[in-house]
Amino acid sequence: MGSLCIIAAIPARFYAPGKRCSTMQVLHHTQSVREALKAHRVGGRRIGFVPTMGNLHRAHIELVKIAQSRCDVVVVSIFVNPLQFGLHEDWDKYPRTYAADTAKLRDANCDYLFYPDEQEIYPNGMAEQTRVVVPAMTDTLCGASRPGHFEGVTTVVSKLFNIVQPDEAVFGIKDFQQLALIRRMVEDLCIPIEIVAGEIFREADGLALSSRNSFITAEERPRAAQLNQSLNWIGEQIGAGQRDFAALEAAARQQIEAAGFRPDYVSVCNSRTLQPAADDDSDITVLGAMYTSAARLIDNISLSL
Ligand code: PAF
Repeated sequence: MGSLCIIAAIPARFYAPGKRCSTMQVLHHTQSVREALKAHRVGGRRIGFVPTMGNLHRAHIELVKIAQSRCDVVVVSIFVNPLQFGLHEDWDKYPRTYAADTAKLRDANCDYLFYPDEQEIYPNGMAEQTRVVVPAMTDTLCGASRPGHFEGVTTVVSKLFNIVQPDEAVFGIKDFQQLALIRRMVEDLCIPIEIVAGEIFREADGLALSSRNSFITAEERPRAAQLNQSLNWIGEQIGAGQRDFAALEAAARQQIEAAGFRPDYVSVCNSRTLQPAADDDSDITVLGAMYTSAARLIDNISLSL
């Protein structure tokens, strides 16, 4: 297509995945998102949504491709959500790479970028913001060391869902606890959005792609896949019949320490509830987090026994 692209006038059957308009529109306000998407909704087009905090890498673009393969119109949001960062966390240092991000999204033929500022998302201030909490899984695992983090995530994601009102939303499995919380929120609050999971993308040595990898120093980088190696080691032990999960978790923490990092947690969990796994659980996810000198990295592997 040329640069003139009147999406609203194209009947749904001609606006199929793969035949996309390459002129991405950048929208800053809730009202403009609603207006832009209205014609698509009326036209019966399926709307896919990929919420992000920017600093986009290959894994984000893969989420956009998943949305494109399933939907007619794809919206990506970039908002570095202050509500999900703790007092001593890295909100101010979080990489803001708007020019590079928009170029990547245009290359990927994304249809709309929603890029609001803080005032647009929290017009009444953060302190007074109504919160959405998923009590069952908010305070465990990553939530234990990041108080308030998941409350900030579920609150902003429900706001973004209400602004975009997509048919589907795509989230990466790397943030397994976040994905589980959002699935639970959607179920508990009867939100009519299908949640789709995108696989973890890894560097050649197994390090999961993450926006925070840019904080890993050159000296640390050769050892940074240790978290993944330790989770895989636990997977092999469980596959071989080992069921003393506490012993496996302790051994994995020691491996991480021996590689020069500070483990936050390593936990063998029931994949659905994220509670510690029972001996006879068949769907298990092993989750872990560790600190490098300037980053907190997370990873997980899932096992079907
Ligand atoms: O995974 C992220 O990037 C963020 O937690 C999300 C889902 C965009 C909410 O701010």
